[in-house]
Amino acid sequence: MESYILVTGGAGYIGSHACVALLEAGYRVVVLDSLRNSSAQALDRVGEITGQSVERLAGDIRDAACLDGLFARYPVSAVMHFAGLKAVGESVEQPLAYYQVNVHGTLTLLEAMQRAAVTRFIFSSSATVYGDPPSVPIREDFPTGATNPYGRSKLMVEQILADWQVAQPDWSIARLRYFNPVGAHPSGRIGEDPRGMPNNLMPFIAQVAVGRREKLAVFGGDYPTVDGTGVRDYIHVMDLAEGHVAALRYLERESGLLTVNLGTGRGASVLQLLSAFEAASGRPVPYDIVDRRAGDIAECWADPALAQELLGWQAARSLEDMCADSWRWQQANPQGYA
Ligand code: NAD
Ligand code: WQD
Repeated sequence: MESYILVTGGAGYIGSHACVALLEAGYRVVVLDSLRNSSAQALDRVGEITGQSVERLAGDIRDAACLDGLFARYPVSAVMHFAGLKAVGESVEQPLAYYQVNVHGTLTLLEAMQRAAVTRFIFSSSATVYGDPPSVPIREDFPTGATNPYGRSKLMVEQILADWQVAQPDWSIARLRYFNPVGAHPSGRIGEDPRGMPNNLMPFIAQVAVGRREKLAVFGGDYPTVDGTGVRDYIHVMDLAEGHVAALRYLERESGLLTVNLGTGRGASVLQLLSAFEAASGRPVPYDIVDRRAGDIAECWADPALAQELLGWQAARSLEDMCADSWRWQQANPQGYA
């Protein structure tokens, strides 16, 4: 019987793009998503893009009985675990919710995998685990630290996974540290659809360009960077998705614990991203420079060499591609999936 990849959070922004990459690479996919931050339409459109169906269950990763039922019904060979809560500010206000979903939810999933003898696991970690890095570019052996409950939840899970892999040496576990995912599938059919006011830069810029918001507030113009605004490593979500397929292939060959950055190795400032977006969209994006946002750092970008060495993967899409694809999605779906 042919096996499946379980994609938790597969209806979400990154998970839906990962489903496309997996299906295009010839894998079969089953999604578990509670839809608390996403729309089932994303999965309909994944089916449309790939011409293949996605098995799906509406359910919560904290529901052990639901997980046992899923593993009994589908022969799963690996789990890509995207489900979780991700808003930094919200995590400060609701830390218990973040630990409950991100930490307890992951433990519940690992226990169910253990019962079902599924031993390959890919975890969505984040560059946030580097806290305020001593220098850039950031290598995987840099010290870790977190400055908010969201970041601590990611760091706790990273540590749990390292302990678990020592106790279960036949497991293959990847901790993928994403930098700043942006962009959308080039079809414009799936993309990032934040609920309410976007927390992140690219969806905010896109909503200004499409007329949903008046202007962008640029958080800080006095950082010690190229133009005073914050510098990040923006990575196209399809490159990120393909990085997951490369990690899966690695885990199929090797047991152990893999920890890699998924970034491009290039930084862009807020104003550089903004002007690339204006060029891609042909729309002006008015902005004001305001105070720094609490907790932000000046620069954060990856050394992506380890991913290239171990996975044979590197990001291929440019900042222009990221902006053009975000814009195509935003313009075709001004209100997201609504
Ligand atoms: P997203 O919110 O679009 O996707 C997460 C999905 O998980 C959603 O579809 C949501 O409905 C689902 N979900 C949430 N709680 C659930 C639960 N208890 N049970 C089942 N499903 C649940 O977020 P995303 O941007 O696609 O992020 C995916 C993962 O990547 C997250 O773990 C996030 O922390 C991590 N990550 C994201 C970024 C980023 O900037 N987007 C950066 C680094 C890491
Ligand atoms: C990027 C740059 C802002 C919004 C966050 C999380 C991180 C990870 C990715 C999950 C910064 C500036 C932003 C705005 C702005 N998520 N900005 N005006 O802060 O690098 O990372 O998302 O793991 O954990 O912290 O991304 O998109 O919020 O900000 O000027 O309205 O844009 O100051 O320089 P960030 P971001």
